[in-house]
Amino acid sequence: MQLTERQRRLLDLTFIDYHSTAEFLENPLVIDRADGLYYWDTAGKRYFDSIGGIFVAVLGHGHPRVMKAMQDQMAKVTLAPPLVSITDKLLDFVEMLGSVTPGNLKFVKPFSGGSEAVESALKFARQYYKQTGRPNKYKFISRYYGYHGGTFGGMAASGNGARKSKFEPQMSGFLKVFPPSHYRDQFASWEEANRFAARSVEDVIIQEDPSTIAGVLLEPIGNTGGIITPTNEYFEILREICDRHDVLLIFDEVITGIAKTGNMFAAQTFGVTPDIICAGKGMSSGAIPLGAMIAREDMAEAFRGTPEQGVHFAHGHTFAGNPLACAVGIAVLEEVIESDLCAKAQRLGEYLRNKLTCLKKYGVVREVRGRGILLGVEFVKDTKTMQPFPELGKEFKKTAIENGLIARVDLSWFAVAPPLIAEEGDIDEMCSLIDDSLRAALNRVRG
Ligand SMILES: Cc1ncc(COP(=O)(O)O)c(C=O)c1O
Repeated sequence: MQLTERQRRLLDLTFIDYHSTAEFLENPLVIDRADGLYYWDTAGKRYFDSIGGIFVAVLGHGHPRVMKAMQDQMAKVTLAPPLVSITDKLLDFVEMLGSVTPGNLKFVKPFSGGSEAVESALKFARQYYKQTGRPNKYKFISRYYGYHGGTFGGMAASGNGARKSKFEPQMSGFLKVFPPSHYRDQFASWEEANRFAARSVEDVIIQEDPSTIAGVLLEPIGNTGGIITPTNEYFEILREICDRHDVLLIFDEVITGIAKTGNMFAAQTFGVTPDIICAGKGMSSGAIPLGAMIAREDMAEAFRGTPEQGVHFAHGHTFAGNPLACAVGIAVLEEVIESDLCAKAQRLGEYLRNKLTCLKKYGVVREVRGRGILLGVEFVKDTKTMQPFPELGKEFKKTAIENGLIARVDLSWFAVAPPLIAEEGDIDEMCSLIDDSLRAALNRVRG
């Protein structure tokens, strides 16, 4: 689309997240409205939103149930100062979210997005250990290629140098290991690479001194590394290592949460119970900023005491537990449960996986991976050498937008997670846009 003079001028007064404005201007997108599975730009062009905004709109855009819940709440109260008050809506949300988590993860604090949830989990873990007789436990182990938010704690835990080096020095106490994908070509099987990657976490814990390690933080399915999807055994090994060394296992489920992987949380999909879950994105289906930190109920005991003891969680945000956001969060969970969208994510995910696997006909697809409806496709130059194909990703990003498709496209891979209101026919439409865009991108790359 063409930008107007005014749009171009005003674009210089803001910025595009993690991208240069010059790159954005190669294929600018100014959204005017959204409905269900589609966006429309200000020039009236329609786009299939294969990624629910950015892993957010699990119920599509403007879902009637969500809009109604928001309107009802608007008529009552839209802010209750979290420094001194709560609302029944917040308590209802705490109860409801705690009822769909694995294990006894029932201690819930709603926030305004993923970064706040991660930041809070890091602070919660450190304070927890200080108040339970293990004050030296303060270090976190996370993974290269991971992303945990744009704030200082989340950034320190993230594993992408290009997004971090400009802000050094980073916070201290953040260590890294590689995810299994880093080792996959060094082992005979994916399972072996996963075992090695999981055990490498214990090597770091031991060398650093277990009495200094507070937590292992990771995304169950790693988005920024290209939908890195470990085996169930990887998590089994991690859980056992964390238990043995008294280390908290913290899942960043900002992307994987809320039905996408075929269960409410990926923890349930992989059959492991972490100690803390950080959630965001899909919780509001995009209607309002919402995230949450969800911890083991028994951990909350450490924060109970008199004002003089000062053991309460020393943390807060003005919009934490906002009643409007909580009303939306409840409506999303109700819809997911009543319409059995976790089962739908499994069923529709299989259908989508089969269709994406058909892209192998072009000879440039190494693998389709992910769980449920959250799937990624990795590009390679050819399937013998398995060399990455960054030129293809770059072109595909452009051809997708030109063809009216919004996806998460990176250099050598792309990801989709269509809203769970989609049916098979919608998946067909989406996959035909993917196919057309990939063919056009290949033609351009191959000249
Ligand atoms: C895995 C993960 N964690 C945390 C965040 C940060 O969430 P937010 O952008 O809502 O602050 C993101 C955002 O993309 C994410 O993908």
